[in-house]
Amino acid sequence: MAGFLGRGASLVLLSLACARVAADEGTETNHVLVQLHEGAEAEAPQVASEHGFQSVRKLPFGEGFFHFYPQQHSAQSRKKRSTRHRQRLEDDHRVKNVFQQEGFGRQKRGYRNLNNIDVNMSDPLFTKQWYLINTGQADGTPGLDLNVAEAWQLGYTGKGVTIAIMDDGIDYLHPDLASNYNAEASFDFSSNDPYPYPQCDNATTLPHTGIRMLDQPFMTDIIEASSISHMPQIIDIYSASWGPTDDGKTVDGPRELTLQAMADGVNKGRSGKGSIYVWASGDGGSYDDCNCDGYASSMWTISINSAINDGRTALYDESCSSTLASTFSNGRKRNPEAGVATTDLYGNCTLRHSGTSAAAPEAAGVFALALEANPNLTWRDMQHLTVLTSKRNQLHDEVHQWQRNGVGLEFNHLFGYGVLDAGGMVKLSKEWKTVPERFHCVAGSVQETHKVQSGEKLVLSINTDACQGKENFVRYLEHVQAVVTVNASRRGDLNINMSSPMGTKSILLSRRPRDDDAKVGFDKWPFMTTHTWGEDPRGTWVLEVGFQGESPQKGILREWTLMLHGTQSAPYIDQIVHDYQSKLAMSKKEELEEELDEAVERSLKSLLSKN
Ligand SMILES: *[C@@H]1O[C@H](CO)[C@@H](O)[C@H](O)[C@H]1NC(C)=O
Ligand SMILES: *[C@@H]1O[C@H](CO)[C@@H](O)[C@H](O)[C@H]1NC(C)=O
Ligand SMILES: *[C@@H]1O[C@H](CO)[C@@H](O)[C@H](O)[C@H]1NC(C)=O
Ligand SMILES: *[C@@H]1O[C@H](CO)[C@@H](O)[C@H](O)[C@H]1NC(C)=O
Ligand SMILES: *[C@@H]1O[C@H](CO)[C@@H](O)[C@H](O)[C@H]1NC(C)=O
Ligand SMILES: *[C@@H]1O[C@H](CO)[C@@H](O)[C@H](O)[C@H]1NC(C)=O
Repeated sequence: MAGFLGRGASLVLLSLACARVAADEGTETNHVLVQLHEGAEAEAPQVASEHGFQSVRKLPFGEGFFHFYPQQHSAQSRKKRSTRHRQRLEDDHRVKNVFQQEGFGRQKRGYRNLNNIDVNMSDPLFTKQWYLINTGQADGTPGLDLNVAEAWQLGYTGKGVTIAIMDDGIDYLHPDLASNYNAEASFDFSSNDPYPYPQCDNATTLPHTGIRMLDQPFMTDIIEASSISHMPQIIDIYSASWGPTDDGKTVDGPRELTLQAMADGVNKGRSGKGSIYVWASGDGGSYDDCNCDGYASSMWTISINSAINDGRTALYDESCSSTLASTFSNGRKRNPEAGVATTDLYGNCTLRHSGTSAAAPEAAGVFALALEANPNLTWRDMQHLTVLTSKRNQLHDEVHQWQRNGVGLEFNHLFGYGVLDAGGMVKLSKEWKTVPERFHCVAGSVQETHKVQSGEKLVLSINTDACQGKENFVRYLEHVQAVVTVNASRRGDLNINMSSPMGTKSILLSRRPRDDDAKVGFDKWPFMTTHTWGEDPRGTWVLEVGFQGESPQKGILREWTLMLHGTQSAPYIDQIVHDYQSKLAMSKKEELEEELDEAVERSLKSLLSKN
């Protein structure tokens, strides 16, 4: 990313943890979230110290919230605090609430060792950055790139835009990064100091005493929430390449504080225009589904998948209906130069960077160019721009076909709306008018119990007027959520599809052969789709639930609630729909596709020329 942003762009690092080590679910930690009564806030350090916590930090979210934690790396800090201690804290008259922080695992995405090739060069690796300008180097497909050159030609370099990389540490002394690095805004949330240099290797050499579990790095809700809400008036874009373990059997997402922090971010960050959260779709491959990852599938994040340099899917790509668009990762061919050139530790560079962990920062870079072109863009404008300007280009998914949704927008289950186009994005950004107000409509809900069993799929429908006639009528869709409660004798064999009234089928859940959960199932899990973007939601929605796999399974569905999010008016989509419908009236089907491409392009062009 540093390679394509100019000197005026600012990089912030928010280090969360040495995220590669996964803590067991529910690990007890001696970090607590303490809410003090109004008026007692000034006494926070005293309260902490009286209860045996060496450190205290005021949290940027909520009212009167403080993070109490032991001194870093001190041997005695690793002793588990007794419940008696906690009771004493709860009984303190200055304390309103105490929330014990449980530790859980979060996995860093990507950074796979492709070929053992280290590059020691002082020369820039520009010509190796095929994803910026692809001329066919490294056995790639010419023209398959982020079209960054066009954005540069128009004079955009990311000037004035601040991107935070939320990860497990960055070598900010690296010569390529040092001049863009914004030290004031950076922070290390795993050690609570402002120096987010990678420490994972060092951590293992610390003396081991106390309880082993707590020697392990773990993630807590406080750490996640704090990093996501760090300096939201200074940081424009947050890029994350981590999430719940991509093992094909985890279903997990943001906890309470992190959800609140994200909601605050999109509503209040950037002076109310909203923080832009960019998320890597996941590295679990075809055995996983990113709709089971509550970060990637959140409406508030832009979830980014990756393509390789000849346009195919990467082997570790996870597909799901919440992915909005794609950037690039390494090549699949054994070309040592097909990785993503980037900085490595101790001033070195590497060409081995890969996985969706490279994809999210690339997207953050493109969004920085768009924000420079128009700083007024809201978090939703950025999603609309992504949908409208991303390109199918030469992307090829062997499993899922490219399709058109009900308003003619082309999407793919794995790549979303296609590969980001920086040139297209800055051009459209410059002329962009903020999208109209967003509304939320609960379109309907099925609450009765329904049996699901192998060989017999369950088909449910909801007929909706999308709250027409009410204040919250949604006429043009943005995100759609299907909140589902279902259990099964084997959760991984479940699959769920949903069709919109305009006929667009979203695969909400694919089979995950490694997930053998037979107890928990999905509990009010919000499956999300972006595929019906721009559609008219009025009419009948159909949910299909079934089993795939060798052995017969059964399950019980208890709830399907359909939530629509979008606007009451959207001029640019009216234009596209009009063109699309006039094309539909034609009989020659084979000409349709081609004509449609032109129609969409014309609509965008006419939108541009109007301004
Ligand atoms: C790395 O490159 C520098 C400068 O080109 C050179 O002086 C040095 O010997 C190289 N190191 C190795 C291990 O190749
Ligand atoms: C980690 O270890 C390296 C190599 O021993 C050392 O140079 C670096 O300063 C250490 N970093 C920290 C944060 O202790
Ligand atoms: C960085 O490059 C130098 C010189 O090639 C090499 O000796 C060193 O092991 C590399 N460091 C890392 C962390 O890859
Ligand atoms: C951003 O908004 C301000 C205030 O509404 C306006 O003056 C300015 O022209 C806008 N900039 C762009 C690029 O739309
Ligand atoms: C699903 O839940 C119902 C009701 O709680 C229970 O009877 C059934 O055994 C559960 N099925 C599975 C596979 O867990
Ligand atoms: C969902 O769609 C997929 C892909 O088209 C298909 O293979 C699967 O059988 C469908 N499942 C259900 C329950 O309709």
